[in-house]
Amino acid sequence: MTPLSRVVIGSLLILAWPAAHAADGQKVFTQGGANPAAMACLGCHGPDGKGMAAAGFPRLAGLPAGYLSKQLHDWRSGSRQQPVMAPLAKALSIDEIEAVSQYLAALPSDPAPDWRRQQIATNPTERLALYGDWSRQIPGCVQCHGPGGSGVGEHFPPLAGQPAAYLMAQLNGWRDGSRSNDPNQLMAGVAKAMTDAEVKAIAEYFAHPASPEVKP
Ligand code: HEC
Ligand code: HEC
Repeated sequence: MTPLSRVVIGSLLILAWPAAHAADGQKVFTQGGANPAAMACLGCHGPDGKGMAAAGFPRLAGLPAGYLSKQLHDWRSGSRQQPVMAPLAKALSIDEIEAVSQYLAALPSDPAPDWRRQQIATNPTERLALYGDWSRQIPGCVQCHGPGGSGVGEHFPPLAGQPAAYLMAQLNGWRDGSRSNDPNQLMAGVAKAMTDAEVKAIAEYFAHPASPEVKP
């Protein structure tokens, strides 16, 4: 075999590899990965991927694929730490991460809540969510997370309807450094500028988007 044909055959094998071994995202979600430590996702994130609010397990259905796969890679690298998900993410293969992220992004999620009545901020929590507090360099959450916290593009995840306990844990993660995966440290800055009471109140606010009587 000439060196050239060896190169050609080699590249053909590389090209054929992903197709022959493509992981099945639905299978990863319902049965887990090839490594038994990569448990099925549905046990915690719900059969429809909509999460389990009572347990604080977040919704994954309809989240952007790029955001989901980034989180799983961040657990592998350690820039996001959490005792359940870190070992699980390390047990998934790169192909499985890609496949399950694509699968989850395509799952239907609940329709965006009606936020029109919240155009006028009636309490301090809502003011923080909509306009932020520039005296502390906190931009309004919706300026990055979209109207009502419904998420924007591949990088700004939805907050609306995620369990309050989950949202609180993330903000506290940025405050104590166990989550440091935000590329420009935007969230670390925001979270560190907030008080304990504000973290709790804003988590409740986004967790229950339909409730007009969220108290600050
Ligand atoms: C034993 C329970 C459990 C299982 C099984 C599980 N998860 Fe999780 N998952 C969690 C918990 C708890 C969190 C919240 C972690 C935190 O607070 O940072 C989470 C968070 C996540 C997040 C972050 C969501 C966000 O908005 O940032 C992703 C992505 C995720 N899980 C993907 C998966 C995938 C994919 C699988 C299956 C291969 C899976 N999980 C299986 C418990 C589980
Ligand atoms: C300047 C842009 C910006 C602003 C303003 C902002 N965020 Fe974020 N936020 C981000 C980015 C980017 C991420 C995703 C980081 C990553 O890749 O993990 C994020 C992630 C989050 C998460 C984690 C979501 C999940 O699914 O795990 C929470 C919770 C959150 N933000 C809450 C808030 C709150 C509350 C406010 C307002 C007080 C706020 N954010 C304002 C950019 C912003």
